[in-house]
Amino acid sequence: MVKKAKSNIMWGARFYNAPDHIMKSINASINFDRRLYKHDISASIIHAEMLVKNEIISEQTGIKIVDGLQTILQEIESNNFDFKVDLEDIHMNIEARLYELIGEEAGFLHTARSRNDQVSTDFRLWTRDAVDELIQQLENLMKAFLKKAEAHVDTIMPGFTHLQVAQPTTFGHHLLAYLEMLSRDINRFQSTRLRLNECPLGAAALAGTSFAINRIDTSTRLGFDRPMSNSIDAVSDRDFCLDFLSTCAICATHLSRFAEELVIWTSTQFNFVSLSDKFSTGSSIMPQKRNPDAAELIRGKVGRVTGSLVGLLSVLKGLPLAYSKDLQEDKECVFDAFDTMSLCLIAMTGMVSDLKPNEKILRDAAKDGFSTATDLADWLVRELGIPFRESHNITGRIVKLAEKNKCKLIDLDLESLQTIEENISSKIFSVLTVEASVASRDSFGGTSPSQVRIQISKWKKRLF
Ligand code: ARG
Repeated sequence: MVKKAKSNIMWGARFYNAPDHIMKSINASINFDRRLYKHDISASIIHAEMLVKNEIISEQTGIKIVDGLQTILQEIESNNFDFKVDLEDIHMNIEARLYELIGEEAGFLHTARSRNDQVSTDFRLWTRDAVDELIQQLENLMKAFLKKAEAHVDTIMPGFTHLQVAQPTTFGHHLLAYLEMLSRDINRFQSTRLRLNECPLGAAALAGTSFAINRIDTSTRLGFDRPMSNSIDAVSDRDFCLDFLSTCAICATHLSRFAEELVIWTSTQFNFVSLSDKFSTGSSIMPQKRNPDAAELIRGKVGRVTGSLVGLLSVLKGLPLAYSKDLQEDKECVFDAFDTMSLCLIAMTGMVSDLKPNEKILRDAAKDGFSTATDLADWLVRELGIPFRESHNITGRIVKLAEKNKCKLIDLDLESLQTIEENISSKIFSVLTVEASVASRDSFGGTSPSQVRIQISKWKKRLF
């Protein structure tokens, strides 16, 4: 039996004295890595069972270890666990408690493993769950966008380039653009998951172990696709975190674009959409205000998610192999990105379901800014056989005329149009309404209601 009297609780006999209190503070991760408890315990149970199966530890010891770990799980879940900063991290906190519960045999659990492969395994398991949760939340958001889009296939609004009115489009078509982005985000999370789903356990400190362990068994039982092939890579790789964070950052960037649109659209100047009281906030001084705070916060929170990505990239840059304590800096940024993404996705789902487009305002706005000028130019090409560059020029002159007369294109009379191009006939007016413009853009993926309906049924099949 190991003599423990004078040894340091974690590092054994080589140390006689306790670390300085500031050493403990800088070293400790328990205040944040306690979130790994469930994954740490399940990986430990499977590791212990593998040790028994391969006759590395005795069956009785294995049973005691597994029972003890299950007790610890219950203690943590019922808030009856005393997390100690002195014990540095979640792994040592659990192991120390196992000693208290089952005595010296607890020490056999750490056979053929190190905290280096342990933490990497736990964190991959945790991140895998996080990915699954975010994918689920993204699907919910997509469903909310889809429902709103379906209700507004025919709701005409101005489409913008440079935030200037460009061409008429529909609210439904605009919302479906976000579905496309979000589905690519899901795709990125799925490929992140594929790459992270390899098991580091058994890599031990960095070089593997002299014990006859079965890495395929532990890997399979933890739901991984395979054990990682290089023990040095297994303990030092954190690119699964970078994958996760970059996917989060791209997704947060997408959310911030819709958030910004909501901020613009709910302004008095635009008044394109209304949010109910559920998603509006007031001002403590200006009683008339209805502010879109949730949208602003989603727009703002992209900063911290992207910050997490840049932060971890900076931690990993130039870090020599294999494990260094710098790697403990991987967790807070990933946890924070996950919490932020989850909050933003749920809040945005609420806002999308809640928002009400102001249909008349949208339609009137679509008529502004000579939005059907392209339709006019296309008509000249189609009906009069004028090359597009020339028809663009003629249309420019017609727009100038309407601007001078302070009227819309459709309100110009035929004679005025003919002073610019004598072959224009009255048939031209049929393409100048916003409805005709939207209906005519029937190319694949275009804004016409019939194309948008095709996309809606595609998404319905995929999401419901
Ligand atoms: N808390 C540590 C971390 O998160 C666990 C690994 C410690 N390994 C070591 N060699 N000190 O990275």
